[in-house]
Amino acid sequence: MTTVTSLVDQWNIHPHHTWLRGERPEQPVVFNEQAQMWNVYGYDEVQEILTNPMTFSSDTTGLLSVEVDASLMEGNIMLTDPPGHTRLRKLVSNAFTPKVVADLEPKIVRLANELLDQVQGQDRIELVSALAYPLPIIVIAELLGVPASDRDLFRGWVEAAMENSIEMIKTERGEEEDRAYEEQMDKTNKLLDYLRGHVAERRKSPREDLLSRLVQVEAGGEGKRLSDNEIVNFAYILLVAGHITTTMLIGNTVLCLDAHPEQDALVRADRSRLPGVIEESLRFLSPFTLALRGATEEVEIAGQRISPGKMIMVWMSAANRDPRRFERPDVFDPTRAPNPHLGFGRGVHFCLGAPLARLEGRLVMDILLDRFPVLRTDPATPPSFLAADHMTGAKHLPLITTA
Ligand code: HEM
Repeated sequence: MTTVTSLVDQWNIHPHHTWLRGERPEQPVVFNEQAQMWNVYGYDEVQEILTNPMTFSSDTTGLLSVEVDASLMEGNIMLTDPPGHTRLRKLVSNAFTPKVVADLEPKIVRLANELLDQVQGQDRIELVSALAYPLPIIVIAELLGVPASDRDLFRGWVEAAMENSIEMIKTERGEEEDRAYEEQMDKTNKLLDYLRGHVAERRKSPREDLLSRLVQVEAGGEGKRLSDNEIVNFAYILLVAGHITTTMLIGNTVLCLDAHPEQDALVRADRSRLPGVIEESLRFLSPFTLALRGATEEVEIAGQRISPGKMIMVWMSAANRDPRRFERPDVFDPTRAPNPHLGFGRGVHFCLGAPLARLEGRLVMDILLDRFPVLRTDPATPPSFLAADHMTGAKHLPLITTA
């Protein structure tokens, strides 16, 4: 069986993420003096941090290198700790239900086929621009209820917002980074204003879409309803958290099957293997590689003393290769059962969009395997990868589609 080392080395994915090459960091918890941050790599240690939100806070805004506008924080479920998070999560879960996700299935199938119709008959395709990038954003736009005619406009703003989120977590800043952040922030504000307009409209006349449900949802106790700002910022988070992550999942899964032809043949013959392939792809090449947390008190973990106020880089992608948790961690094995990977996180912030990501991944892979009997990378036109450390995924993925 081919090991993971060959795939990662073949394309030189994250040269410094040594755990992707079968090496283990010397310690599960390590302090980086230069960056003044902790890095956590071990499975048990990552799990401990993600499941203790009071000691390891998600509100890292005070520790970031840029000042985050307070108006962006309201409804920002990812950066909110309990009890505020508990209220928000309950409200949005009441609107973003399993039924809402399941009902998207025919739309996802239609959209994926429409996008692939445009490249049908070509003996080469670039998977990211043809399908993996546009599909998730159109799905979220449909889910929210953004009119199809506004999609291109909307897409431009979302792209800027994505770049903005990358600018935000850059640790080394100079004038250039600050200028880039300001420029992206202007575009992000356009997206927020656009969403605000739609929320106001849904308050007057609700429709059958997620924005209308978010306007209407109620939960018991204090803060029964979501405010306009909360809805706008939550919709923004859905776009940032649910877009490129799904793009990466699709590309990574194709790359995993390309590097493991025996698994490709097995899943082509028996599609009931697809969910196992998707889960193993999430473990093997985790799209969302790390989460950020801030210590709220002095705490000891794996024999290391972490002081309050220190930023912690929680490497889920490294934990997903921890031999203490996964047997033969560097082998791509879609039959792993159980497969308790941390690709969607763990604890109270566990990915809210996981059911949608899994659905999109399964449907898209099924359609790709149906429509293309061959999907092969070509060393003459290799894939290129996103440079950011917190993401693992292809930016361009040229594929040969004929035998
Ligand atoms: C393969 C695709 C995806 C991956 C790998 C992924 C990964 C993650 C991870 C690791 C977290 C936890 C972050 C943390 O603990 O700080 C998270 C949270 C979240 N994700 Fe996803 N995600 C994916 C797709 C989606 C989609 C499609 C949506 C929605 C449309 C979505 C919405 C969210 C939201 C709202 C949160 C915050 C939940 C909370 O803080 O309570 N994600 N995701």
